[in-house]
Amino acid sequence: SAAEKGGHEYFMLKEIEEQPDALANTLRGHFRDGRIVLDEQRLSDQDLRDVDKVFVVACGSAYHSGLVAKYAIEHWTRLPVEVELASEFRYRDPVLDRATLVVAISQSGETADTLEAVRHARAQKARVLAVCNTNGAQIPRESDAVLYTHAGPEIGVASTKAFLAQIAANYLVGLALAQARGTKYPDEVAREFAELEAASAAVQRVLGTVEQVKALGRDLADSKAVLFLGRHVGYPVALEGALKLKELAYMHAEGFAAGELKHGPIALIEEGLPVVVVMPSPKGRAVLHSKLVSNISEIQARGARTVVIAEEGDETVRPFADHLIEVPAVPTLLQPLVSTVPLQVLAAEIARSRGYDVDKPRNLAKSVTVE
Ligand code: G6P
Repeated sequence: SAAEKGGHEYFMLKEIEEQPDALANTLRGHFRDGRIVLDEQRLSDQDLRDVDKVFVVACGSAYHSGLVAKYAIEHWTRLPVEVELASEFRYRDPVLDRATLVVAISQSGETADTLEAVRHARAQKARVLAVCNTNGAQIPRESDAVLYTHAGPEIGVASTKAFLAQIAANYLVGLALAQARGTKYPDEVAREFAELEAASAAVQRVLGTVEQVKALGRDLADSKAVLFLGRHVGYPVALEGALKLKELAYMHAEGFAAGELKHGPIALIEEGLPVVVVMPSPKGRAVLHSKLVSNISEIQARGARTVVIAEEGDETVRPFADHLIEVPAVPTLLQPLVSTVPLQVLAAEIARSRGYDVDKPRNLAKSVTVE
């Protein structure tokens, strides 16, 4: 009913609006007495100190949350992090041993590919930490430890609030590793955690763009294809934006690392093709920012219709943006939490405009329990 959907036409929009709470609830209780506490874990500080390599395995949006996490975990811990699709992982004989931490991310905790990846990792003696949104599901039951996301039940088939909560949970894992290994001082860990907590309010602010983005969605509903570009943590955001559009609007959509533009994707640019560009902060990542500005000017010169997600007050990007969506300034590693939100709304509204069921897209299941 409309009441269940919080007055919205579809659950997904309600769940998009629940994202500030999903973040706050996922972080709650995990910083006590000046320390990150993964209290649902059965991994000791010594276990975390023994880790010499991290694998992240997941499917779909959960996989994209892992791609985001790689930037943070490597930066904070100096441990190598490999992110792998669960369906590929166990079939290529990955190098695993007791010192490997495998982080298995799954909203449902029932995804067959991820479960099999967990079993494979444990059989090779790796330690497995599940990041899961569903209490007592199979993946956490078969893992060594679990860190629950608290996004609440997610009804929409396409993941939204669980995805943001996964990013936050992955960051907790990274900070816990950094704390145990001493690659960050306690005050730095405390500051990172405080910034993570503050991201919830930034996501609330982004929700102020919903009506603007919906209007843009209605405008783009007849497009044949949409490209998404990003760099650094904006790259997985571009992949997630493209996935959302495929899932919901049945539209051809691809996400690219913007630096790859000249190695192929630029050949796809033609008059009127919408290209969504996820900008880094002009202050936080000035070098990448200027490279992206030149990418946008190139594609605009070739006729692309540019949709630019940029930090509030980023004036340099304005001349190249046919549509500008402004998101609040947050630390670089937290940008995916704000920049993903408009892409979720955009995909949902394009789908609705095309007359599709946003909550139950064709051919897809909320949890995929066969390999
Ligand atoms: C399905 C859903 C996606 C989700 C993926 C992984 O494909 O439609 O939204 O990201 O499964 O699900 P999981 O429950 O393992 O996170």
